[in-house]
Amino acid sequence: MGDYANLGDVAGRRVLVRSDLNVPLKDGAITDDGRIRASVPTIRALAEAGARVVVTAHLGRPDGAPDPKYSLAPVAVRLGELLGAPVAFATDTVGASAHETVSGLADGQVALLENVRFNAGETSKDDAVRGAFADELASLADAFVSDGFGVVHRKQASVYDVAQRLPHAMGGLVAAEIDVLRRLTATPERPYVVVLGGSKVSDKLGVIDNLLGKADKLLIGGGMVFTFLKAQGHEVGKSLLEEDQIETVLGYLQRAEQSGVEILLPTDIVVADSFGDEASARVVAATEIPAEALGLDIGPESGAAFADAVRPARTVFWNGPMGVFEQPAFAEGTRAVAQALTEIDGLSVVGGGDSAAAVRALGFDEAAFGHISTGGGASLEYLEGKELPGITVLEG
Ligand code: 3PG
Ligand code: MG
Repeated sequence: MGDYANLGDVAGRRVLVRSDLNVPLKDGAITDDGRIRASVPTIRALAEAGARVVVTAHLGRPDGAPDPKYSLAPVAVRLGELLGAPVAFATDTVGASAHETVSGLADGQVALLENVRFNAGETSKDDAVRGAFADELASLADAFVSDGFGVVHRKQASVYDVAQRLPHAMGGLVAAEIDVLRRLTATPERPYVVVLGGSKVSDKLGVIDNLLGKADKLLIGGGMVFTFLKAQGHEVGKSLLEEDQIETVLGYLQRAEQSGVEILLPTDIVVADSFGDEASARVVAATEIPAEALGLDIGPESGAAFADAVRPARTVFWNGPMGVFEQPAFAEGTRAVAQALTEIDGLSVVGGGDSAAAVRALGFDEAAFGHISTGGGASLEYLEGKELPGITVLEG
């Protein structure tokens, strides 16, 4: 009793848990608590084992100094509701409040430290600076559990350096995420279809490169579509465009053809006169985007074609919404893809904060998907075949 992973009996010990509690907020209210919910099982298991649980996490990208708009205070409240027990909140990360809060914990109680990125040491590129901050974090605990899957691709103090300073273990969430990603990369059942969306091609280059050798079909939606359309010689009006990626995209289109991987692009687009202008939303052919309009979703014909391509798959990985799903006029492409993922006979994986939030915002039952990942960048980097510092360090 009281054992957690390879840490032995944690009862009475202070265990620092790195969770990814980076949730979207609007006017100070949490709009999607998926990451908090995903963090609960590990925190609860440790608390039930009698540990004094000290959770550390980040919110957004503050500038290495306290900034009230990135406070984790609302997250502490929500975490407490989900745990069904109060969560003590430290108003700093490694200062007087943190030390006082941690000393006040009884066995089985949980504390959350203020945003770890309020300290410049957290994200410093200087090993010594990061190390000094990690020493301070480590002084608050007797053991470390790495459970913030969304940040394991970051070489940051609370993810990487602290693991070198304390007995450490992989948390259940990270273990489950890695297990699914392994299934996607080792021997995926075929057909293997990958759907990529989101705004920037430049974020997806590595993964596209890697998947061209592995997936059977690559479906492209979201803002990055326009760089592909432009590469094919079409005008894209005022749509998002990464001019400097056109050459690279052309290379992908050629390589896909040579390697027998099908790249499916939308044939119709929902455009509007300006960003978010639902009143002017209309469907045009992907090859005929008016000069004064910009594309904000894939069109209905494309949504149906993407769904048809997804349904027979035995393995699907999806990262990135197809359009500006927060607005009904631009949400149907994302809905069509999400719906198709729920219908496959095989493993469907939704990767990334935005697609995961989209699935929930559109009212889908999370249980209808094989796996909803809490990490966008982290899962993409894993699929790119990159080493994840936050995982490697646990092996040492
Ligand atoms: C995310 O939201 O993708 C993770 O929490 C990582 O955040 P970051 O990209 O700011 O490091
Ligand atoms: Mg995070």
